[in-house]
Amino acid sequence: MNWNQHYNYHFPTEIFFGPGIIKKLGEHLKQRNLKKPLLVTDEKLSQLPLFKKIYESLKSSGLDPEGYHQIHKNPIKNDVLSGVESYHQKNCDSIIGLGGGASMDVARGIALKCFHERDLFDFDDSLGGDQYVTEKIPYFITVPTTSGTGSEVGRSTIIADDITKEKKILFSPRLMAKAVFADPELTLDLPFHVTAATGMDAFTHHIEAYLAKGFNPLCDGLALEGMKLIGESLEKATHKPCLETHSKMMMAALMGATAFQKGLGLVHSTAHSLSTLFDLHHGLANAIMLKYGLVFNAKTSGDKLQFLSKFLNLENQTAQGFIEYIEFLTHSLGLPQTLSSQGVKEADIEKLAGLAIKDVCHQSNPRPVTEYDFRNIYKQALKGDH
Ligand SMILES: NC(=O)c1ccc[n+]([C@@H]2O[C@H](COP(=O)([O-])OP(=O)(O)OC[C@H]3O[C@@H](n4cnc5c(N)ncnc54)[C@H](O)[C@@H]3O)[C@@H](O)[C@H]2O)c1
Ligand SMILES: [Fe+2]
Repeated sequence: MNWNQHYNYHFPTEIFFGPGIIKKLGEHLKQRNLKKPLLVTDEKLSQLPLFKKIYESLKSSGLDPEGYHQIHKNPIKNDVLSGVESYHQKNCDSIIGLGGGASMDVARGIALKCFHERDLFDFDDSLGGDQYVTEKIPYFITVPTTSGTGSEVGRSTIIADDITKEKKILFSPRLMAKAVFADPELTLDLPFHVTAATGMDAFTHHIEAYLAKGFNPLCDGLALEGMKLIGESLEKATHKPCLETHSKMMMAALMGATAFQKGLGLVHSTAHSLSTLFDLHHGLANAIMLKYGLVFNAKTSGDKLQFLSKFLNLENQTAQGFIEYIEFLTHSLGLPQTLSSQGVKEADIEKLAGLAIKDVCHQSNPRPVTEYDFRNIYKQALKGDH
């Protein structure tokens, strides 16, 4: 594969992939008679030259883009509702989610709420909310600028309650972006710790999808190839950014969210509670918890973990070897290894476990998890014992 070329796929939606492909976004909208996209990007990103360049390029294509930037690190309902107001006030006709998972999730939430009267949380996946997704959804495009969440090809958006900060997953197959512009050049200037943490999020997607119970060989195939891409590129992308490694990471990230259509696992449940209670970045929370989650799952998924160690050609080709590799990788990426480093205390574990057990992700975990198990897993992660 030549990572310098442009590619066009239709899986799971239309994907335009390659360095510089973002320049074709304006033309894409014009061809569909769209003129006024709402460009949804977080405040920090909106200050960067990258954003200004995209904004100007849309203008020079004859479009009239409007910006929207109220996005929390872990987005809340009000971010979506204010965005809907902006969309209508400014007479927009389409939505572009430009940024990391947070920006793309808020953009997807706005797309959902624009023409749906119901309360945003009525669309909660755990309550069967997708049955209410019946109205029009504006033309919606995603442009990832991190390689992690895979939200660009996702069908759900994760939004927290403004007050309790509890994360809700709002899902509908209709929330899939109509087109994805995945341009690896946009990730080249990411701070190295963001490349590392978001990359570990993508890795966790592949690992959890591969271990998830259920039968989905399509997703298993994606997960294996995604892990291979990450294995050969994440460290380099973090410490020595170049177009090829960033291209591989961007591809692996969007494959990850496709793979986890099969399901995720307990690591994501632990991470969601950490973001809720400590506003911890999603990728960072996964990076810390992954090792401890694998130790727990080794009891039922030892064969699969051993297979992964062989598949990735690790030195120690056992289940334990795969867990050690994850520990080594997180360390070499410069990421923290314990929850205590993030200010979590023993006294917080009860609350964290109480939230984790309510999270849907662990329902597809290969080994059933109880609240008691969650407490133990958090305890181990607190100081790094396992
Ligand atoms: N919808 C889904 O399927 C799904 C899956 C996993 C996670 N999520 C959500 O995604 C969010 C996390 O997303 P994330 O990990 O991408 O982090 P993020 O969106 O919070 O971005 C991380 C930081 O990097 C900055 N940034 C982004 N792109 C940059 C660039 N190119 N150059 C410089 N700085 C840049 C952002 O401004 C931000 O400060 C969480 O809210 C999580 O709940 C959604
Ligand atoms: Fe994730």
